[in-house]
Amino acid sequence: MQGKRIVLGVTGGIAAFKAAALCSKLTQSGARVRVVMTRSATEFVTPLTFQALSQHEVTTEVFDEPNPEVIAHIDLADHADLVVIAPATAHTIAKLAYGLADDMLSSLMLATRAEVLIAPAMNVHMYAHPTVQQNMATLKKRGYAFVEPGEGQLACGYVGKGRMAEPEEIMQAIATMFKRTRDLTGCRMLVTAGPTVEALDPVRFFSNRSSGKMGYAIAEQAAKRGADVVLVSGPTHLAPPADVTVVPVTSAEDMYREVRARFPDQDVVIKAAAVADYRPATYSEHKLKKQDGELTVKFARTPDILAELGRTKEGQLLVGFAAETNDVATHAQDKLKRKNLDLIVANDVSKPGVGFATDTNAVSIYNAGGLVTSLPVMSKAAIADALLDEVRDMLDG
Ligand code: PMT
Repeated sequence: MQGKRIVLGVTGGIAAFKAAALCSKLTQSGARVRVVMTRSATEFVTPLTFQALSQHEVTTEVFDEPNPEVIAHIDLADHADLVVIAPATAHTIAKLAYGLADDMLSSLMLATRAEVLIAPAMNVHMYAHPTVQQNMATLKKRGYAFVEPGEGQLACGYVGKGRMAEPEEIMQAIATMFKRTRDLTGCRMLVTAGPTVEALDPVRFFSNRSSGKMGYAIAEQAAKRGADVVLVSGPTHLAPPADVTVVPVTSAEDMYREVRARFPDQDVVIKAAAVADYRPATYSEHKLKKQDGELTVKFARTPDILAELGRTKEGQLLVGFAAETNDVATHAQDKLKRKNLDLIVANDVSKPGVGFATDTNAVSIYNAGGLVTSLPVMSKAAIADALLDEVRDMLDG
C-alpha cells in the first residue's frame, strides 16, 4: 500500500470506532490516508482522532476549503486511488445509490473515478430491509466492491448480520483491489463477446439473446489492468471499451476467421461470445417470398471456434463460457474436456439476474481438477475481475 492515496469515508455508526483502527493500519502500511467524516460520524468519534492517526486534517462539510488553490471535494476525488467507506450506514448507502450530494463525502463520491470499497454496518433488520438490499445491488452493479458485515452481537442488542467487518478483513479486501492494479501488463488477450448473426436472406437472420455485456466487461477490466486487449465482437449496442481494439464481426464464420488469424499472437483467449452452432444451410440473395403452408429451413453446422483453438493451442491459456439451463456442472466440465480448455465459466441462464442481457451474472469456474470458485450474483465487472484474478494466478503459476 506504500504511497497509495486512500480516502477513508467514515459515517455515523458505532462502528466508527473501528474505522480508527483501520485508519491506523492503513497509515502504518504506507498509504496516504485522507479522512472524510459525515456530521453523524463526528457524534461517535472526534475528527481529532482521525487527524492524529492520518496526520492530515479531516473534512466534513463541502464548504471546508482549507486550500484556496483547489476545490477540496474535487481535489480529494481526483487524487484518490481508492475510496473506502467504513462504516457505511444505510443512509449513506441510500444517498450513494440515488446520487445525493449534500456533504463532503457524498459530493466527492459523485466526482471520483477511483475504485470504491464499502463496509456496511447497521442493525440486522435494517441490513436485511429490501430497500437497503436494493440500494446495495444498485451500487454493486455500478462496480462498487463490498466487504460483507459479520454476524454476531450488535451494539443495538440484536444478534445477527450487520456488524462491520473487522479492520483486518477490510485491509485484506483493499490489498486484493490494489493487487489488481496493472497486474496484467504485458499480457496479450483476445476476448469474444456478443451474439453471432446468421443470415437467411437479405432481411432475415437467426441469432440469440447475448447483449455482449459479459465479454465487454472482461475486455474493459482486462484493459484497465494493463492487458493488451483485442475484442472480437458480434453485433451489440454497447460502446467500445476504452483502450481496447474492437474487431466487429457478424457471423460465426466471420468470428472464426478473425479469432483464428489472431490466435498465434495471444497469451490468453476468453470466449464469452454466444456463437451460433448452426446457420441456414443456404443463403438466398433475394428476399424469400411468403408461401402457403410451412417453411422448412435446413441448417448447417458452424465451425466450433473454441474446439479448434483447443486442438491447435501452443501455450495459450484458453477460457470458455458455458451457458446452461440444467446439469450445469456436468455440461460445463464436459465442454472443458472436449474443447481442451484451461478454465470454463459456467452460468445457469435459467436463473434471474444471470446470463443473457443482464448487468449481473453468477458463475462457477472450473478447471481440469474441478470447481475453482463459485461467485454469487454480482455486477459483470466484478465477475470479470474475479475471473481475471484466476487467469492472472494461472499465468503467474
Ligand atoms: O452477452 P451477455 O448478454 O452479457 O450474456 C453473457 C453470456 C450468457 C452470453 C455469457 O456469459 C456466456 O455464457 N457465453 C457463452 C454462451 C455459449 O455460447 O455457450 P455454449 O455453451 O454454447 O458454448 C461454449 C463455448 O464454446 C463458449 O465459450 C462459446 O463462445 C464457444 N463456441 C460455441 C460454439 C461455436 N460454434 N464456437 C465457439 O467457440
